[in-house]
Amino acid sequence: MGVDRSFAGRRVVVTGAASGIGLATARALAEQGARLALLDLDGDRLSHVAASLNGDGHLALPVDVAKVTAIGTAFRRIGDAFDGIDVLVNNAGINPPAESSTAIDETFYDRVMDVNVKGLFFCAQAAIAPMTANGGGTIVNLASVSGMIGWGGTSVYSASKGAVIALTKFLAVELAPHGIRVNAVCPGSIRTPMVEQVIGRLPDPARAWQETAALHPLGRAGTAEEVADAILYLASAQSSFVTGTCLVIDGGLTAK
Ligand code: NAI
Repeated sequence: MGVDRSFAGRRVVVTGAASGIGLATARALAEQGARLALLDLDGDRLSHVAASLNGDGHLALPVDVAKVTAIGTAFRRIGDAFDGIDVLVNNAGINPPAESSTAIDETFYDRVMDVNVKGLFFCAQAAIAPMTANGGGTIVNLASVSGMIGWGGTSVYSASKGAVIALTKFLAVELAPHGIRVNAVCPGSIRTPMVEQVIGRLPDPARAWQETAALHPLGRAGTAEEVADAILYLASAQSSFVTGTCLVIDGGLTAK
């Protein structure tokens, strides 16, 4: 008998679900019958996304994941509506531009760390009790190749994604006895609104896209759907013996 790849009836939380990789992941999960709680800073876009997804009973919760009390409120609402959580996709993240490390001030530093690390940690923490009560679950964190090599944004973004890789490994070990698997994906350049904005600010965006593509041995940037496929694999029973890993999805960038 094959492994059940379906998410039918699974209760899934996706943060940063209104755009890019989070949106592609939410769409793919909804196609497979998941019941979704979608969290995002952008409440308007999130409502449109929730209404456009396959199936019904999805929750759209406008939340700033950098605010720990807001995470608590959101997860209580999810608990009331879903009576448990099977999967958490910890995807919300930011990569604001800075000319160099000397141009980064405390506000910039705190915001990147608060969204990318603190928000991710406290969403994972909030999912532990409802997953444990169900006998287990899976958490997939969005890291980046920027957490592995000195490339792709700012030093602070890179540090935040390095922290995500470390948190993934520690939580995988800590939560294994509870039946909770914790993994990360490490994408290279993925053509989403985040990267469109970064490249769009450069003097010659068309040339910058060519240069970005050339950095990846497969000769192009990736798509949000390609990352979503990897997230679904790590969230599903297909990866039942995989925990504490960081799945690199970078068209060969870090293999060079
Ligand atoms: P995106 O900018 O298209 O989407 C991010 C979503 O997160 C947006 O809807 C935004 O409103 C939401 N968000 C931002 N701050 C938030 C907050 N404080 N609370 C709640 N929601 C918030 O970005 P993209 O490219 O889809 O990125 C998703 C994740 O993938 C991020 O963690 C990013 O660091 C990571 N990643 C992206 C790569 C890329 O090349 N696009 C490469 C490697 C990692």
